[in-house]
Amino acid sequence: MRRGFVISVGGSVLVPDRIDVPWIRRFARLIDRHTESGMSFGLVAGGGRTARDYTWAVRLLGGTKTEMDQAGIIATHANAWLLVSALQSAYPEPLDDVWRAKALMKHYTVVVRGTMPGVTSDYGAALLAEVTGLPFINITNVDGVYDKDPRKHEDAKRYDHMTHDEFVSLIASADTREPGSHVPMDLAAAEILRRSKIKTYIVSKDLKNLERLITGKSFVGTTISSV
Ligand SMILES: Nc1ncnc2c1ncn2[C@@H]1O[C@H](COP(=O)(O)OP(=O)(O)OP(=O)(O)O)[C@@H](O)[C@H]1O
Ligand SMILES: [Mg+2]
Repeated sequence: MRRGFVISVGGSVLVPDRIDVPWIRRFARLIDRHTESGMSFGLVAGGGRTARDYTWAVRLLGGTKTEMDQAGIIATHANAWLLVSALQSAYPEPLDDVWRAKALMKHYTVVVRGTMPGVTSDYGAALLAEVTGLPFINITNVDGVYDKDPRKHEDAKRYDHMTHDEFVSLIASADTREPGSHVPMDLAAAEILRRSKIKTYIVSKDLKNLERLITGKSFVGTTISSV
């Protein structure tokens, strides 16, 4: 595999409220530019506001949690089409099979969608990082992992670096596995990243910062590694 990254693009960034078309366009340009200079990218789309609206409505209508997840997953499919549409370098349709995605990454940027109830799109992204051996970036609506939810606690402190063990412990105490809940990552994804010692970065949607990260410069965010 060439140099590159698997990037889990949080739905909170793609669709914070309405679809953020200008951000998606700028993100796609950045990815296309670095693809031309020889890097490979596997992108995974999250569900965002659309997924939360559907999980909320399915709950009110009496659906089970599996049905709530299933409706949220369809939102990741629509969001994956946004990325495919914006990218020049993309394989022309979203994928749900990580081995096929790995094979196609030799020639294309691939976009993977959510697949299975009970896990988030971060889980598919972690599997893609595991099969490709590439590092993992999670882009979300906060600038890293904090000791507690920064949207609820003003005094929350960001970690610049954590071990996989510390990250899994933090996630284990935060992840209720409720459909559409707001956590830095789901526990199943964090466990995959830990078992294969995949270098992991959690960053905000700041694209200058993202470019600094993918070009090996200093950046703002949380780095997670095995030591
Ligand atoms: N310890 C923590 N550190 C950082 N963020 C946290 C923490 N605990 C909870 N959060 C919350 O997690 C949110 C990010 O997760 P959320 O699922 O909302 O976004 P996403 O994963 O980017 O989008 P999507 O789930 O739609 O793909 C943050 O806005 C923050 O409020
Ligand atoms: Mg999420």
